[in-house]
Amino acid sequence: MFTHIKINFDFTKIEISVKNHKKLNSMKSNIMNKDSQFPNSFCEENTTIFQKWWNEQEIDFDLLGNQLGMKVETISTIILPPGNNIPWHTDTFIKMQEIYPDRNDFVRAMIYVDDYVPGQMTQIQNGEKYETYTFWKSGEGYLINDSIPHVNVNGSFGNTVTMNLSGILV
Ligand SMILES: [Fe+2]
Repeated sequence: MFTHIKINFDFTKIEISVKNHKKLNSMKSNIMNKDSQFPNSFCEENTTIFQKWWNEQEIDFDLLGNQLGMKVETISTIILPPGNNIPWHTDTFIKMQEIYPDRNDFVRAMIYVDDYVPGQMTQIQNGEKYETYTFWKSGEGYLINDSIPHVNVNGSFGNTVTMNLSGILV
C-alpha cells in the first residue's frame, strides 16, 4: 500500500537535533533488511543518519494516530544530513514484529518535519512506476508497508528531517 498523507503537528514542541539523536549508519541500521547488499561506493560517510525514538510522555501517539487512521506503536525522528542517503530499500518492521508476533500487516507513516529545501529528493515505487517527490511542506508525507521500495537522497545544504510512525491500520 502507498498513500499520501498530511498531519497537523507542532514540531517545534519537540527538540529534533543531532545532539539528542543517535548517530547511525543507514545501511547497518534496522531500517534495512539484514540481507541487503549495497555497492561499495555507499560508505559510512554518505549513509549517516541520526535517529531518536520518542515515548508517549513526549509525543501524544493517539493524537497523531487518529489523524492517520493508525494505532501508532513507535515514533522516531530521523535526521539525514547533507550529502547522505538512505539507499533504495523496503522498510523492515522489527519493533512491530516484537509487539505483534502473529501479524505482518504493519504500516509506516513517513512525515517531513520541515518544508522542502532544493536538493532533497524522495523516490517511491508505485506499482510499475517510480514517483519522485520534491517541494513538500512540513506535515506532508507517505504511508507505506513493507512492499514499497523507496529512497531518500539529500544533496541539499540542509538536513532532511522525517518523523516515522509505525503501527497498524485501525
Ligand atoms: Fe524507509
